[in-house]
Amino acid sequence: MAKLKKIKRIGILTGGGDCPGLNAVIRGVTKPALDQGLKVIGILDGFEGLVNGKVIELYDKDVSGILSQGGTILGSSNKGDPFHWPVEVDGKIKILDKSKEAIANYNMWGLDALIAIGGDGTMHISKGLMDLGMNVVGVPKTIDNDLEATDLTFGHDSAVFVVAEAIDRLRTTASSHHRVMVIEVMGRYAGWIAINGGLAGGADIILIPEIPFEWDAVYEKVKRRSMMGKKYSIVCVAEGAKPKGGEFIVKKTDIKRTDPIQLGGVAEFIAKNIEKNTGLETRYTVLGHLQRGGTPTAYDRILSTKFGVYAIDLAIKQKFGRIAALKGNEVKSVTIESAIQNQKLVKTTDQAVITAKAVGVCFGSKNL
Ligand code: F6P
Repeated sequence: MAKLKKIKRIGILTGGGDCPGLNAVIRGVTKPALDQGLKVIGILDGFEGLVNGKVIELYDKDVSGILSQGGTILGSSNKGDPFHWPVEVDGKIKILDKSKEAIANYNMWGLDALIAIGGDGTMHISKGLMDLGMNVVGVPKTIDNDLEATDLTFGHDSAVFVVAEAIDRLRTTASSHHRVMVIEVMGRYAGWIAINGGLAGGADIILIPEIPFEWDAVYEKVKRRSMMGKKYSIVCVAEGAKPKGGEFIVKKTDIKRTDPIQLGGVAEFIAKNIEKNTGLETRYTVLGHLQRGGTPTAYDRILSTKFGVYAIDLAIKQKFGRIAALKGNEVKSVTIESAIQNQKLVKTTDQAVITAKAVGVCFGSKNL
C-alpha cells in the first residue's frame, strides 16, 4: 500500500443485505469529506456497480435529510461478488473472476480509497480487493450482529426493536385466543436477533442456532405454562435454529448470492410440532424483511454517524485495511483481516443467555 500525497477522491458503496442506518453512515462519510474538499463517488448497488461501472457523484444535497431514512440511497446487492461472478453459458452457470474489472474501474474513476459498508461477505470481498492493491476502509453493517470485530453492528438495534414490538402485538392476540405463538426472526447462523429481541419482548422460549433444541424441552415448557394457568406462550425462534441432530431449514439456494443459502421455514415446522405434540393451538409469524426496513432507532442513527465519521477520518489519515469497530462505548478500528476471521456467535456464557435464564426463558435444552 503506497502512501498517497493527499486523499482527493473517495468511493463509497453499500454491500449485502440493507439495514437501517446505512444512509446515516453515507451522510457521516460524505459531509466531513466534502468539508475537507474531497470528491465523494457513490458506487451503485454494491460491488455490482464497481464491476459494471455504475457511479454517481455525491453532493451535500444528496445526503441532506437522509439520516432517518431506511435502506440505502446507493442501492445494495447480495450478488455481484467480483471474485464469484456467475454468468449463464449454454444454460449452465459459470463462475467468472471480475476483480480485474473492479480494479480497472476504481483506477479509471481516480479513486484514492473505497469505503465499503457491509457485513461478512463485503469484508471478505474487500480483503480480496485490498490484496490486489485497492485502498479500503470498512464499516461493519448487519442486523445479524455476527461480526466479531465490533461489539455491535448498526442495524441490529433497529431489528431488535421491530422484534420486540411484534412480540408485544402477538402477546395480546395470543392471550385472547390462548394460543402458542411462534415468531421467526432473521440472523442467519447467529442467534443475536432472537435472543435480544426475545429478551426485549419477554418471549418464554428462545431458540437459537448456537443451542440446538430438544423437542421435549420445548413441549414441556409450553405445557407447564398452560397447566400453571398461563394463557399463552411466545416462542421466538431464529431462522437458523435447528433441533438437536437436525439440519437448518433452507428455503432456497441461489448460487448467484454471496451466501447461496437462504434460510426460512423453521417457525412453521416448530409450530406444527408443538400443536401436534401438546394439543395447544399454535400459530406462527415470519417477521422477515420488516426487520430490515424502515427508520433506524436513535441508537443506530448515532452509531452509524459515528462509524461514518470515523471511517472517513481513517481514509484521510490513510489508515487503509481497517474497519471501524465499536469497543465498549468508543469507536476504534481493527484490521479487516482480523475482522473476518471469526463469526460472532452467542455463547451459553454470554450475559444475554444468563439473564434470559434467570427470568425463566427456556432455550429448548434440558441441560441449560
Ligand atoms: O444478513 C442479513 C439478513 O437479513 C439475514 O438475517 C437473512 O438471513 C438474510 O439477510 C436474508 O437475505 P435476503 O434479503 O437476500 O433474503
